[in-house]
Amino acid sequence: MLIRRRRGYEIPESQVTPEGFVVNRRALFGAGAALLPGVALAQQAAGVVPPLPEHQRNLRFRPERDITPEREATTYNNFYEFGTSKNIVREASRMPLRPWTIQVDGMVAKPATFGVDDLIRQLPIEERIYRLRCVEAWAMTVPWTGFQLSELLKLVEPQAGARYVSFTTASLPAVMPGLRQSWYPWPHVEGCTMEEAGNELAFMPVGMYGKPLQAQNGGPFRVVFPWKYGFKSGKSVVRITVTDRRPENFWFKIQPSEYGFWANVNPEVAHPRWSQATERLLGSGERVPTRLFNGYGEFVAGLYTNLQRERLWA
Ligand code: MTE
Repeated sequence: MLIRRRRGYEIPESQVTPEGFVVNRRALFGAGAALLPGVALAQQAAGVVPPLPEHQRNLRFRPERDITPEREATTYNNFYEFGTSKNIVREASRMPLRPWTIQVDGMVAKPATFGVDDLIRQLPIEERIYRLRCVEAWAMTVPWTGFQLSELLKLVEPQAGARYVSFTTASLPAVMPGLRQSWYPWPHVEGCTMEEAGNELAFMPVGMYGKPLQAQNGGPFRVVFPWKYGFKSGKSVVRITVTDRRPENFWFKIQPSEYGFWANVNPEVAHPRWSQATERLLGSGERVPTRLFNGYGEFVAGLYTNLQRERLWA
């Protein structure tokens, strides 16, 4: 078979956002109803997830790979709250995605609890195509819609002395059978430094493939650090805390010899039980070399120059 290698900036025609990709909110809700707060609130209370508002693709972040077929990215998941298999879509679909609030607290001048739709309205949302590399050595390339984490942090004004940000994800025993596995340290908590949180790549998706984020991928609201192994990208976030203490993250608590705090992608540092030199692409099944910082070194390498004594890669 003839395989033509595309250069980084070439996106196949089939993957260019069609002009009509952005659903017109009003058309869907009918006669401007989405603009009436009373109607929006009633719909939220009924669990209705509104379509994403109009937004554009940010071309600064080049995928340099084909976008993973939507079906693969939305049916092959890691979400241990719903079970340890990759096939948790049915279980996850029972999680109500509205109403949904995110508490932002800790060392901030203006702690607040935001409704996810208020954030979507208030913050500049855009689409970014990022590669995601799981520590298990599979990878996908996904068009996420969301906003920069730094924009959300600006709203709450972190205080001097704040060093870390932690993300607590949803813990809903009624719909999450995985929580019965009591040997896991629920709730799932992840974290990063303030510098990492301020990096332009740190992103908070509320959508994927032009649609609201589904539960199995971390709907309605998750975090994504594309230069780190996927386990750092916590799903279905309910609380963000700015702190001066390094958060003990979920996988570190379970197996500190295998999973650390930093977890930056590095093909040369093997997992204790497997190599990280290559990765399998969801969809095509092709095996390709893994890149340092998952290929995002130009954006993030500078964050780590003074941290060589830390265990940056696992
Ligand atoms: N977040 C929560 N709350 N629970 C999880 O089990 N798994 C992580 C991460 N975020 C996980 C999570 C892992 S290991 C990976 S690789 C990514 O989510 C997978 O995201 P995806 O299913 O959208 O591909």
